[in-house]
Amino acid sequence: MRKQIAAANWKMNLTLQQAETLMDELIATPHELNENQEAVFGVPFPYLISIKNKLAGKKNAFVAAQNCYDKKSGAYTGEVSAEMLKSIAVDYVILGHSERREYFNESHAMLAAKIDICFANGLKPIFCCGEPLAIREADTQNSFVETQLKESLFHLTAEQLTGFVIAYEPIWAIGTGKTASNEQAQEMHAHIRSVMANQYGAAVADSISILYGGSVKANNAKDIFGQPDVDGGLVGGASLVAADFAVIINSLK
Ligand code: 13P
Repeated sequence: MRKQIAAANWKMNLTLQQAETLMDELIATPHELNENQEAVFGVPFPYLISIKNKLAGKKNAFVAAQNCYDKKSGAYTGEVSAEMLKSIAVDYVILGHSERREYFNESHAMLAAKIDICFANGLKPIFCCGEPLAIREADTQNSFVETQLKESLFHLTAEQLTGFVIAYEPIWAIGTGKTASNEQAQEMHAHIRSVMANQYGAAVADSISILYGGSVKANNAKDIFGQPDVDGGLVGGASLVAADFAVIINSLK
């Protein structure tokens, strides 16, 4: 049975003090994770150790970096390596977020290299994909997303992709308050699963957790997560409010 995941992406928000307060509030707010469910916190690099410490002893709760560099080490001022993240016991790394693809020109090939270096260091990637509005309006989102998957994932082995995590985030739904409809989300998630099944077989595809991201809120999470191929969410804005994110965690199937 594949994992259901409520993942927070705090992006470039909060001071350390605000971040610690948010985590204390969330821990104090009733929420439940069963065996098959995880809460993942994608926090800014400087807060990873502190938030990891706050989650010590909490069942099925993990931290994620929001990026890492694709080189092993060396003269890359300002970058953070997968080995550094491993050394502070980070669990997951969000890769290929549309904001990184757009503002930092992250290419398919660079993302493939980042995934490889994460695997080499025992870090679990959360691979983001999703189309911009113009592609959705032209109704070519399926082939657009398929290319993103092929170009960055198809060099991996079936073993590496077993239990892998993909986040589908339609760019037009990020931070806009406009979510994909339940039908649009289900349709794309089923498409992603079929692309992976065609390449790697049904067993691998069925083991992959596919999260939906884009204006997931406390009041719509249950409906979206209720779709058969939606295995949780990657949540921006609503993950910055403890009460809301607790509801989102409780909305996992
Ligand atoms: P919002 O939930 O704020 O729309 O952000 C989604 C997102 O980009 C998560 O990675």
